[in-house]
Amino acid sequence: MLKSLKVFYHTFLFYGCALLLPVPPGALAWKLFRNKKGKVPFITRDLICDTETLNALPKSDNSLDEFTTAFTPFIPLLTLNDTNWNLRRSILSTGLKKINIDQNFTFDIPFKKGDVYWDFYKIIFQIGFTLIFGRAITKPEFDDMYLGVADINRLIKRQTGSADIKSRWKLYHRTVTLLSEDNRGFIFADSDDFRSLNELDRVSIVVEDLLTSMCIQCTDLICHLLLLYPLFKKEFKNNVDNCISETLRLYPLTDIWTRKSINNHRAWIASLMQLNRNGWDDPDRFKPERWDTNDHPPLISWGFDARSCPASRVGYNLSKKIFLNITSNENIWILPASNYQHCRTFTAGCQLWIGNGNKPDSLEWTYKGKWKNHLQQWLFSRLRVIDQGELW
Ligand code: HEM
Repeated sequence: MLKSLKVFYHTFLFYGCALLLPVPPGALAWKLFRNKKGKVPFITRDLICDTETLNALPKSDNSLDEFTTAFTPFIPLLTLNDTNWNLRRSILSTGLKKINIDQNFTFDIPFKKGDVYWDFYKIIFQIGFTLIFGRAITKPEFDDMYLGVADINRLIKRQTGSADIKSRWKLYHRTVTLLSEDNRGFIFADSDDFRSLNELDRVSIVVEDLLTSMCIQCTDLICHLLLLYPLFKKEFKNNVDNCISETLRLYPLTDIWTRKSINNHRAWIASLMQLNRNGWDDPDRFKPERWDTNDHPPLISWGFDARSCPASRVGYNLSKKIFLNITSNENIWILPASNYQHCRTFTAGCQLWIGNGNKPDSLEWTYKGKWKNHLQQWLFSRLRVIDQGELW
């Protein structure tokens, strides 16, 4: 009896808060159950609290996120469940190996005071296009493609409430034209398997699994690194790789993992387990030296099973390269707005002042529009929670 009451209580607590509070479901689960170990049973699913419990679950290669309109009309690999996902993943992985991350790319650092998130998004978009197609993007191609790629992230980031279908179809059709080109620099130029896929799968690999993933994930990681850099300059200079791991531990880029039930096991939701306090020494502190030993749970920011990130090499090296390109110049200084709260999902963008040369006398600055932004976020996040069928 007491057990059933607890199940009802936890279910209503979690789903009620997910519907009402301005926090994404993953962050909410972590806030509610941050000290808990094991599973919290809900009426239809279990919530997995910590990495040890997650790793002890029976292996499953079900998709991570089955239903959301955020990607329309594209079909991302991460929503695929049937036998097709295996083929799509293997074609993608072969293409990813062809990406030459060691080439030099130039970009203009956004020297400004304000939200630099979308400046970096545009930079990664242009670099990503070059890495995939082996040539720079033209102006008409940029005009047809960029808005669609940005719109996918605007919806995921809850900065808008519905998809801009017109810009997405423009992106789709321009990609079809690109795929019909005889381009030896294209990473899938030699792949018969890629050519054997239907049009929607081919376009989805290029637009969603490659270009949009690159833009979203690398921009997020670079912005987290830039926000932490002014506070931990010495640590970043000392060991940048440890600092990247520690950044990903404290600011995981993925909000939530879900699985349907298999065999006799219940379906589950897991989220931000690295933020769960169990197993970590001084868990809330940015402590890069913890990565010098193995005396802690594993880093699962790149995923944890058959569906883990197939692009970790590209994502890691591209983000690190751009971050080092900016911070290796001693004249460059970075200052977050004093009224800005560094959060995992960039609800208010990435409010930084990036300057070169002499620093102004007064370095305190605030950004405008904080409350309007909070209100918009709350509204659009509610739509996203309802849209995200995986939670129920
Ligand atoms: C830069 C940091 C990155 C991190 C931390 C990261 C992390 C992850 C994680 C945790 C997953 C598991 C799925 C989820 O829960 O959403 C994943 C899947 C995936 N990632 Fe990444 N990723 C990064 C960059 C990239 C890049 C640059 C690409 C593309 C070039 C990419 C393509 C994908 C794809 C296609 C999947 C789905 C795999 C499947 O369902 O089989 N990721 N990533």
